[in-house]
Amino acid sequence: PQEKEVLKARIKRLLKEQKAVLVAHYYVDADLQDLAEETGGCVSDSLEMARFGRDHPAQTLVVAGVKFMGETSKILSPHKRVLMPDLDATCSLDLGCPTDEFTAFCDAHPDRTVVVYANTSAAVKARADWMVTSSIGLDIVAHLHAQGKKILWAPDRHLGGYIQKKTGADMLLWHGSCLVHDEFKGIELGLLRREHPNAKILVHPESPQDVVDQADVVGSTSQLIAAAQNLDADEFIVATDNGILHKMRMAAPGKRFIDAPTAGNSATCKSCAHCPWMAMNGLQNLADVLESGRNEIHVDADIGRKAIISIDRMLNFAA
Ligand code: 13P
Ligand code: SF4
Repeated sequence: PQEKEVLKARIKRLLKEQKAVLVAHYYVDADLQDLAEETGGCVSDSLEMARFGRDHPAQTLVVAGVKFMGETSKILSPHKRVLMPDLDATCSLDLGCPTDEFTAFCDAHPDRTVVVYANTSAAVKARADWMVTSSIGLDIVAHLHAQGKKILWAPDRHLGGYIQKKTGADMLLWHGSCLVHDEFKGIELGLLRREHPNAKILVHPESPQDVVDQADVVGSTSQLIAAAQNLDADEFIVATDNGILHKMRMAAPGKRFIDAPTAGNSATCKSCAHCPWMAMNGLQNLADVLESGRNEIHVDADIGRKAIISIDRMLNFAA
C-alpha cells in the first residue's frame, strides 16, 4: 500500500509537470479511475473519452484503456501527444476485423452505408461512413434506417444483432465478438434471476442475444452506471466487465451488485468478466510512460484524415 501511494504521488506530480491529462475507461484498475478523477481528467465510456480528449486544452493525453481509444483520441487531436501505459492493450473486436478483409467486404457491397463500432483500427474507421459507440449506435442506425439506408455493420455481431432487432434495419453483419462479453450465459442468468427475483438486470450490448433479451437496461458503460444509480432497486445483476463495479458502487452506495454468470470462473477462464487488455493498464506503467514519454500513439496522417470523417459524423450527431 505504501508503494501504491508513492506511485500515485509520482503520477500526480508528472501529470502536472507534463501538463498532461488522464483519460480512463471504467474497466481499468480502480486506482487509475480514481486518479483520473482526482487530477481533473475523466473516467467514462468510449464516446465521452473521445469527446473529453478532443475538448481538453492539455497537449498531452494519457489514455488508460485499449488501443482503439488512444487512436481515436489521436485522430481527433492530431497535434496532441497521446500516450498509453501499454501499446499492446488491444481488443478482440479490433483483432477480429483486419483491414484487408474488411475492405474486401465493403467493396463487395457498395450499396451499403458502412457503420463501424469504435472498437476497430484507425484504418477500418477510415473505410467507414460512420463510427459509433455502444451509447449511440442504436440511435444512429435508426436514423440511417429512417432514411432508407441499408447498413454494412462491423465488427461486433452481438451489438449489430441487437441494433438490427431494435431498429428493423437491413444490416449485413461482420462476425466479430468481444471475448469478455461473449462469455455471459443466458441459461445460467435465467437461473440466477430466479434466486434474485427483485434484481434488475444491466447488460452491455456486446453480450449474446439470450443475455440481452433478459435485460432491464441495455447500454454503454456510462448508461449502465446511470441506471444503477437511478433505478429504484436494491439489487442488480451486471453483465459487463467487472471493472465497472468500482464506479457503480460509488454511484449507488448501499446497493448490491452481482456478477452475471459466465462459462467459467476466474480460476479457469482468464477473460471471464475482465478484459485482459484493459488489465494491462497499471500505476507502474502509467508512471513510466509519463516519465519517459514512451508509448506514444501514432496514426498515419492520411488514414487519420479519412477516419476523422466517420468519427465526426457520430460526434456531430451526438451534439
Ligand atoms: P463503452 O463505450 O460502453 O464504454 O464500451 C467499450 C468497450 O470496450 C466495452 O467492452
Ligand atoms: Fe474489447 Fe471486449 Fe476488452 Fe471491450 S472488453 S476492450 S470489447 S475485448
